[in-house]
Parts: sequence; structure tokens; C-alpha cells
Amino acid sequence: MTQKYSPRRHRPVLALAAVLLATCGAAWGSVASTVPPLRPITVNLQDKAALRNGALYAVHMCVACHSLQGVRYSSLAKVLGLSRAQFLATIGTNGQHYHDTITSNMPAALMEAYVKIAPPDLTVIAERRSPAWLYTYLTSFYVDPSRPTGVNNTVRYNVAMPDVFASMQGLQKPVVVEGLRFGSPAKVAVGVQPLTQGTMTKAQFDQTARDIVSFLYAVAHPHQQERERLGPWILGLFLALSILTYLLYKLYWSRVITSKERWWRIGR
Ligand code: HEC
Repeated sequence: MTQKYSPRRHRPVLALAAVLLATCGAAWGSVASTVPPLRPITVNLQDKAALRNGALYAVHMCVACHSLQGVRYSSLAKVLGLSRAQFLATIGTNGQHYHDTITSNMPAALMEAYVKIAPPDLTVIAERRSPAWLYTYLTSFYVDPSRPTGVNNTVRYNVAMPDVFASMQGLQKPVVVEGLRFGSPAKVAVGVQPLTQGTMTKAQFDQTARDIVSFLYAVAHPHQQERERLGPWILGLFLALSILTYLLYKLYWSRVITSKERWWRIGR
């Protein structure tokens, strides 16, 4: 018995599918936001001078609020290619012990009272955020009188962190375009322009920011250099083992009489 296809029977299913598609589409559309372009950066872990410069800023500036609990001061020395004595003389430990993990001297409660949010641990952030994002973040604070700290950030809208670079970099104003924020039309800052002159030139400040990002990257990926050094050796070892295993296989099978060969071997 053949059954005639009747579109009516499928109508509820089709309607449900249409509603589901529309809901997904709306949900997808509602998170659309205008994303500011990220500034490109190349992290060179061999450039120890850059890493040490970044470490100076991170340990003396960022650790005022943030912790870097993924590392100890002693392991930083290794990342920076310094001996213990050199590390203590040039970078220091903020009064903590050499083998301590890097914690902030600022009590989290005080920070919460000050900016309503405890600063996140920077080793966690550096693992989660790309170097390009971090570089753009550090160089993109702009003046925004509507914020309690007086500043905002292009890649981290309504950030609670104050502009710690205001004196070095100078203040900046936003480059605003009509765009979308979480699906709603809004004025979105997609870049920054200088407003006042800081103690550093733009090139100097950008280099400093890149050094800080390189340092954070090195700290979040402490074994990367070792991995890059060992990688070719490990691959070589596997290749050598593959060749040896193949030769062994050939040796074994040269002594095995298969059924195809039997008719003439047995005859001998
Ligand atoms: C005055 C305290 C203070 C100082 C100093 C400070 N920060 Fe922050 N930072 C904060 C706070 C508070 C937040 C949390 C912001 C938020 O979630 O809105 C934050 C957030 C961040 C974030 C996370 C952004 C994100 O959402 O992923 C990064 C990255 C960061 N800071 C980097 C730095 C670096 C690098 C330095 C040193 C050059 C530094 N901060 C110095 C207070 C500070």
C-alpha cells in the first residue's frame, strides 16, 4: 500500500523547526558586537633583554594589584636567564622570599572596596588571552568620564582596572564608530588616539607594552623553549625507532614460510 505524501502531516514539525531556527538565529544575532582590531605582536622568547624589561614592570607595577601565582620568584630567574644573585640584584622579590609564589601585597578586600572587583591572577589571564589581545589591551586605555576610574578600554569594555600607564603613555581619546554592542546599536570605541604627551614616546611605550606581554607569555608557558629544543630530537627518535622496527619486521618475516611459498620450499 502506498501512502501519499501530505505536507499537512508535517506542518507542526516544520513549524517547530522554523521557530527553533529563528530562535537560534536571533540568539546568534543578539551577541553580534563590533570587535576592535587587535594589534599584531611577535613574542620572541630568546630576547632575554625584552623579557627582563617586562619582568621589571610586571613585578613592580602589576604585582601591586595582581598576583602571578603560577610561578615563584625562583622560577622567574630561570625564565629570564639570570642567576639567583643577578635576579635579586636587578629585579628583586618585593620583600618576599626567593622561593615564594608571586602574590600581591594588596589585600583583595581593599581592592574590592576600591574598584569593586579583585584583580585576576595574571598567570591565568596570560594563559587564556592571546598575546595580541594583551598587547592591544595594555595600549588601549582611553579617557571616559562616565567610568569610576575615569578610563575605559577598547577590547575590554567597562574595565575596572585603572589606567596605570597614564603618566608613561599620556592620556588617550577613543576613535568611535557606530556599531553593535551585544546586538544593540551603540557607539563603539575601535581604536585610540593620543590626547596628552606622557614621559615616553609612542614607540617607547609600545615597546614597553610588548616587553610586558612577552614576559607574561613566557611565564604562562614556562616549558615552551624546552619543548622547542627537544621537539626535533623526539621526532628523530621516533623516526629511528620506526626504521629499526621495520628492519626487525623484515628479518622475522624472512624466516617465516608463508603458505604461498611452501610448495617450493618444502620440495627442497
Ligand atoms: C591599581 C590596581 C591594578 C594595577 C596596578 C594593575 N591592574 Fe590589571 N586589573 C586590575 C583590576 C581591578 C582588574 C579587573 C578588571 C575587570 O575585570 O574589569 C584588572 C584586569 C587586568 C587584566 C584582565 C583583563 C581581562 O579581562 O582579561 C589584565 C590582562 C591586566 N589587568 C593586566 C595588568 C598588567 C599587565 C598590569 C601591570 C602593567 C596591571 N594589570 C596593573 C587592577 C590593576
